[in-house]
Amino acid sequence: MNAFTTTGLPRALCVTGLLSMLSLGAPIALAQDAPVRIGLMLPSTGTYAALGAAITNGFKQYVDEQGGMLAGRKVEYFAVDDESDPAKATEKATRLIKRERVDLLVGTVHSGVALAMARVAQNTKTLMIVPNAGADELTGPLCAPTLFRTSFSNWQPAYAMGKVAAERGHKTVVTLTWKYAAGQQAIDGFKEAFEQAGGKVAKEMTLPFPNVEFQPFLTEIAALKPDAVFVFFAGGGAAKFVKDYAAAGLNKSIPLYAPGFLTDGTLEAMGEAGEGLLTTLHYADGLDNDKDVAFRRTYAQTYKLKPDVYAVQGYDAAQLYHAGLSAAGGDVRKQDVIIKAMENATVDSPRGRFTLSKAHNPVQNIYLREARGVDNKVIATPIEALADPARGCNM
Ligand code: BEZ
Repeated sequence: MNAFTTTGLPRALCVTGLLSMLSLGAPIALAQDAPVRIGLMLPSTGTYAALGAAITNGFKQYVDEQGGMLAGRKVEYFAVDDESDPAKATEKATRLIKRERVDLLVGTVHSGVALAMARVAQNTKTLMIVPNAGADELTGPLCAPTLFRTSFSNWQPAYAMGKVAAERGHKTVVTLTWKYAAGQQAIDGFKEAFEQAGGKVAKEMTLPFPNVEFQPFLTEIAALKPDAVFVFFAGGGAAKFVKDYAAAGLNKSIPLYAPGFLTDGTLEAMGEAGEGLLTTLHYADGLDNDKDVAFRRTYAQTYKLKPDVYAVQGYDAAQLYHAGLSAAGGDVRKQDVIIKAMENATVDSPRGRFTLSKAHNPVQNIYLREARGVDNKVIATPIEALADPARGCNM
């Protein structure tokens, strides 16, 4: 073994020096000087790749606005492509926590992957922030002091769309989604509000994630002739679905509704087919607040991209952690202090300020948006300060 360290000092001298520093309480200074370690477990391939990139961009934008530091600590990132594959999630999250020793686990987009990550984080008492995945369980039965979300529950925007569809006079709806937690829970949320208001979901159709063979379903919708269709799709699959819906001529006769993931970040790819679509979400183009204006200007300049809901959720994940870490003076070991400050934070988000529910989920406005060109323009706020019901959370 080389007897000299990278400082050029003999190793024996270094060890002696280190021991005397330890007895003088210097380890705090050493820990404080080291960068805070952030694990970004997000998709960088597959149908959700662009969503993962936007979350990463948003997170880094906030850190860069703080001079590359959080609470006086430099930031080191450990990025892993989760491939939106739940079967690989436990191993990948374990590697970030055990091998890379991350102080904070950030992830992910896909609900099934996030559920597996949350279990690993909980078993190892690792702080975790979910910057997208809406799995209701994360702020329901799996809620935990160390688990936070800066995005939404699958129930939230879908429930709001059920209310909107009923108010628009529709009586029968057919639904279509990928068969996994996010899709199923979005349908459940929609159905809850729609049927409470007297509507009826006549048929629920699903296909495996991330399949995009929509033709048989479009044929069936045309035959059933419901008043409207409600879907959950996002990313590349969403653009394909909307184009296929228009190519089948259904956009002329049967209104299509969805949580805003259908049209966020996808309108350019949809072209004409997306025009006029109505969706509900906790973010929109044209919100009238200074934070959003500044956020969008910097995002567009830095990444040469139009910001979307995923970028906002990543930005807010960094903001929320900053609030916690600052309260702890940058000391990642003071987890109780970090958690308390995060619970009490008011996040100055581009979507509008929000606080967290007892289950650590944003209490937030849900906007109704209309697709105009490449914008999802806000046209109404059907529900203000909507809290997820957090069913099954005992915290
Ligand atoms: C989810 O799996 O929870 C999800 C994925 C993409 C957009 C929204 C939700």
